[in-house]
Amino acid sequence: MKYKSIRGTRDILPEEARKWQYLEKVAREIFQKYGYEEIRTPIFEVTELFQRSIGDDTDIVTKEMYTFLDKKGRSLTLRPEGTAGIIRAVIENNLYRQKRITRLYYLGAMYRYERPQKGRQREFYQIGAELIGPDNPASDIEIITLTLELFHVLGLKNLTLYLNSVGCPRCRARYRESLKDYFKDKIKMMCTDCQHRYSLNPMRILDCKEEGDRVYIEKSPKISDYLCQDCQEQFEKVKEYLHFLKIDYTLDPYMVRGLDYYTKAAFEIKYEGLGAQDTLAAGGRYDRLVHDLGGPDLPAVGFALGVERVMEVIDKEKISLPSGVQTDVYVATLGEEALKESIKLIRELRHENLKVLNDFNPTSLKAQLRQADKWKAKFVLIIGEEELSGKRATVKNMSTGGQESVPFSELKGYLLRNCS
Ligand code: HAM
Repeated sequence: MKYKSIRGTRDILPEEARKWQYLEKVAREIFQKYGYEEIRTPIFEVTELFQRSIGDDTDIVTKEMYTFLDKKGRSLTLRPEGTAGIIRAVIENNLYRQKRITRLYYLGAMYRYERPQKGRQREFYQIGAELIGPDNPASDIEIITLTLELFHVLGLKNLTLYLNSVGCPRCRARYRESLKDYFKDKIKMMCTDCQHRYSLNPMRILDCKEEGDRVYIEKSPKISDYLCQDCQEQFEKVKEYLHFLKIDYTLDPYMVRGLDYYTKAAFEIKYEGLGAQDTLAAGGRYDRLVHDLGGPDLPAVGFALGVERVMEVIDKEKISLPSGVQTDVYVATLGEEALKESIKLIRELRHENLKVLNDFNPTSLKAQLRQADKWKAKFVLIIGEEELSGKRATVKNMSTGGQESVPFSELKGYLLRNCS
């Protein structure tokens, strides 16, 4: 085999694509119910957009971006996530001027040059939403409940909602100092990435996955002890509303998220038992990003889920999604004249929204019936010389095995009655 898909990318073959379509359908229905409208932004943007929003010292920006120069020497990057591009589009198109609250959702491929492993790819798909305008903690709850509802409708269980507040620049300045203090005599024992993070942004150390480093991280100061009054109050309200709705959560004081734009409440939803890459969805509030990217002072909150990871859980839990593979009618023909007649017939039946399939180079009836079986056809129309001269088709009911002779003129009605 000469050509292969690039490491970290994969083909979504028809059987899997059908499941994806179902997930997308469920997501779209929920978004619609909550008043979210779809936005589609380009797959690449100027590199600076991601540097400014995701943050210069994050792993995503320093190691994982697919960055290239275009023919005019401009630095462009394949989007590693959706939020930055959407906020750019909201500002550029003045979307926030039309309504007091902007609710957007998106589906699409994202690109990160990570080490591929189960649940982690270089091209992966996200479904996400952004709620721009409100700063009330009730809007954090809308995003969290929407995400949970999506998982609930899909039938996902064993999920844990992890919650933290990452504060605002004011609380973070004090917190960073305390982290520097705490890690001062430990950092030489930690990984080189952490040593780098120590001087650039010590909060990033908390994101380190190295076993040896986790020992130190788990005893480090917690941001909850450094939150300013505003952040503290916001976080308390989010927790209060979750209690009010009887939604369980677990506090994770060391969750810092891999992107710098977050402020205040952040969350992750994990499926226990998926291995290292067990976060199905994540998000949180980002009150400064719109302003930082040149827009007005608008708070926002959002989330994104990883489609591949959700699919993995669906497979693992053996959740059967509607397959949609059934065919209403398979048309089997014998001879050139019958094939010609079938073209007209198939066209008419498809106009009635029936799913109709056939073979373009039909061989024996037996082979065509085998195909009909593979496509899970409910009925097979058999058209041979005899049928042509009598202007009738033999209709075989594939579940009972029974056969009937139906005039061409009555086929449409017969099939519509019996296929529903
Ligand atoms: P994130 O945590 O970087 O957040 O990604 C969200 C989800 O995308 C993850 O929880 C995971 O399911 C999936 N994901 C991330 N990287 C990979 C990968 N390499 N392979 C497979 N799946 C992956 C964001 O991207 C934010 N933009 C979410 C957000 C929206 N926050 C506010 N609004």
